[in-house]
Amino acid sequence: PQTRIYRWTVSSVSVPGTNGQRIVVNGRYPGPIIEANVDDRIMVYLTNGLSDGNGTSIHWHGLPQPNTPFYDGPAGTSQCPIPPGATLLYNFTLGGWTGTTFWHGHTDMQHTDGLYGAIVVHGPDDLVSPHYDSDHALVVSDIYLEPVDELLGPYLTETSPDGSPEPVPDWAEINGRGAGAHNEGKYFEVDVQPGTTTRLRLINAGSIAPFRVSIDGHVLTIIEADGAPVEPTRVRDLVMQVAQRYSVLVTRAEHDSTEAFWIRAVMVDKGFGYKKCDSPAISPPLIFHHVSPNITLETRAILRYTSSDENTSTTRLPLPTTTPGPPPGDADWYKLPVFDEWALRPPAAVKYPPPAGPALTLPVAFSVRQTQDRYWRSYINDTSWNVLPLPEAALLEDIAHVNEGRLGVAVWPGDQLIAAVAHGQTVDFVITNEDTNDHPFHLHAYSPWLLGVGDGLYDPATAKLNTVNPLWRDTFTVPGSSWIAVRILADNAGYWTFHCHIAWHLITGGLFQIAIPPADGVPPVIPEDIKEQCRMWL
Ligand code: C2O
Repeated sequence: PQTRIYRWTVSSVSVPGTNGQRIVVNGRYPGPIIEANVDDRIMVYLTNGLSDGNGTSIHWHGLPQPNTPFYDGPAGTSQCPIPPGATLLYNFTLGGWTGTTFWHGHTDMQHTDGLYGAIVVHGPDDLVSPHYDSDHALVVSDIYLEPVDELLGPYLTETSPDGSPEPVPDWAEINGRGAGAHNEGKYFEVDVQPGTTTRLRLINAGSIAPFRVSIDGHVLTIIEADGAPVEPTRVRDLVMQVAQRYSVLVTRAEHDSTEAFWIRAVMVDKGFGYKKCDSPAISPPLIFHHVSPNITLETRAILRYTSSDENTSTTRLPLPTTTPGPPPGDADWYKLPVFDEWALRPPAAVKYPPPAGPALTLPVAFSVRQTQDRYWRSYINDTSWNVLPLPEAALLEDIAHVNEGRLGVAVWPGDQLIAAVAHGQTVDFVITNEDTNDHPFHLHAYSPWLLGVGDGLYDPATAKLNTVNPLWRDTFTVPGSSWIAVRILADNAGYWTFHCHIAWHLITGGLFQIAIPPADGVPPVIPEDIKEQCRMWL
């Protein structure tokens, strides 16, 4: 294993040609990629260079943080925000995790303003099983023109009776390119050798919009979902909710020297209160409404097969002229199954079944609704999370005693909904979505096994749960008006957040925590600089 050291400064820049701002790392958006091998140590010296007096923090989405729960990142639960001018060293191992993920801001809504970047962790089997020749990360994101603070106020106070009023993204980008006025129609380009197989690591780093991703003239073969290997699954396209990731293999048998194809990411409206687009030209009508002249329904990148000498040439190669559709001569294209994230399975050869019951079942009900004074809030079991000024960084020292007298789901001081479980307990969460829209849920530091999904309310007598070969992943869709059941083995100690990853629902309270004590009863030692930074806010 190696130690990989990064020095990052968070700051904000204005976006040329707009009144928007981006929160960037070392001046770049999206921020730097972390690329590492399994079991490496990651050290990020994160300096808060914001000039607006706000704190900052970063979450390493999906990484397990064994013995380092205080570096997980959510301000108000596992650390205090890093004060302006201060630096925090995030110092953690990858704990055996491999695959595709991303880091993102976890203070206020800095994530929505652009504070994110890719993480790629290679395992010993990479390139081999299944085989591929090259590997590229594509960070797909919805983009808001307005600074998020200017959108949040109207969202919180919207009184429209006809549906929830989450702000509509203005456009979308792939690796910071692809649609916006400010990037002058430049597209991110993946250049590969003709006749080779390419692994594309797709990351939805956005705030609300699911993306339907496809590549003209190609079948996508899904091999990874959020770090979990997937039995290779051929699809025409896939839908990626915010914070989900997929690796797909793409290849073409025949090439006429240089050929270029559009990679397309289309924002899909699964009903987050967006107005439907009623243009007859757009089909299916699951697309965002144009609310500004700059809005873009689809963003693109380029997949180009090119020999290496063209590859290094400085001349601009022509844009693709392709249209969506099957590879030439592929009669089976139309017979491929419609993508369904709940139908994905681990490879048959991978044995990683969930721990058998009996499990402690914790029911969780999620809803988005207006308070009596008509503010929009998200609720979990009728509580709506508020950021504590001084978080569980203090409580962490208390975690060894977490199960003394308060096992189960309860509202703790400060209106914090916390599920306290014993170390080593098998826990099933049954999440009921009382909203008619889909919500992508994320549990920090775990990749729960996805046992089942169904319409309406969960009925233990009739629910079919897969306890044989379910997929495990850290971000999963809870479909509208449905239930899901997921299982963890509570063997990773910490206070971990479990929340809807739609930025507007996280900021308005759609979060609860799981408190898991250490095996040996000895709490993790909180680093002094975290405690010191908490005191700086007092
Ligand atoms: Cu990627 Cu708490 O989130």
